[in-house]
Amino acid sequence: MSRIVYVNGEYLPEEDAKISVFDRGFLFADAVYEVSAVIDGKLIDNAAHLARLTRSMNELKMTAPATGEEITAIQNQMIERNGIDEGLIYLQVTRGAADRDFAMPKDAAPSLVMFTQKKNLTGNAVAGKGISVITVQDIRWKRRDIKTVALLPASMAKQAALDAGANDAWFVEDGFVNEGSSNNVFIVTEDGKIITRHLGNEILSGITRKTVLELAKRENLVIEERAFTPEEAYEAREAFATSASAFVMPVVKIDGHILGNGVPGPIAEKMRKLYIEMAKAG
Ligand code: PDD
Repeated sequence: MSRIVYVNGEYLPEEDAKISVFDRGFLFADAVYEVSAVIDGKLIDNAAHLARLTRSMNELKMTAPATGEEITAIQNQMIERNGIDEGLIYLQVTRGAADRDFAMPKDAAPSLVMFTQKKNLTGNAVAGKGISVITVQDIRWKRRDIKTVALLPASMAKQAALDAGANDAWFVEDGFVNEGSSNNVFIVTEDGKIITRHLGNEILSGITRKTVLELAKRENLVIEERAFTPEEAYEAREAFATSASAFVMPVVKIDGHILGNGVPGPIAEKMRKLYIEMAKAG
């Protein structure tokens, strides 16, 4: 059965969902997006995702296509129309269609597109084993705090990881780890401290990152928000990545260095469990 896709006010079968070739999302990656998780038919941390969407649009002086309330209502319609019990809802806002010009059009009507993906997020078997990652040079632009659809470097990094027999890539810049191809990353030191890079234009301010740090504080775990090197990561007791699509994903190998016993560490497992419990509780 074909999915129902939302395009600018219409709910359409996916084959009929179309955007102009002059859309600036297509021509200039002049578009921002959000991915929210759905568990038991309910959106997880969605208000924070929509707040970040507003920030991304503001940073690019993009006109909002709808209010947060309207967007939430469409997201819920999409969950219902596509029968999503568990999975993802993707939404994208573009500056709209205009004749190709590097100057930004003043009067283009922004586009809003949404689609859903059914996925077993809470019972993801990969999380039970953990993943391996390689480090790659961070060749992305300098405003990674804005969630734009200019994802080619991230896609190249992910593919390089798969080609190397790993599962994902971590971006390294000036000798320090920034984040994963589509997630924020954490290590746990020998003395049990959780380290994750401080926020800034160099990384995306992850919604899952924020919630996981709050949960860790509640557990009285020690957190340090600072940059760390790949070498420090190789020596870590454990590591994990966070995102709306994978929640908390244990990392067991970095550039061939096996962490701990090569299985998901206790803090990663605990944070995954706490995150899912919190999400389910709403
Ligand atoms: N990616 N960093 C990058 C570069 C990301 O693309 C993402 C999310 C994150 C984690 O952010 P959050 O916890 O808010 O999902 C960090 C989404 C899932 C994606 O592109 O599919």
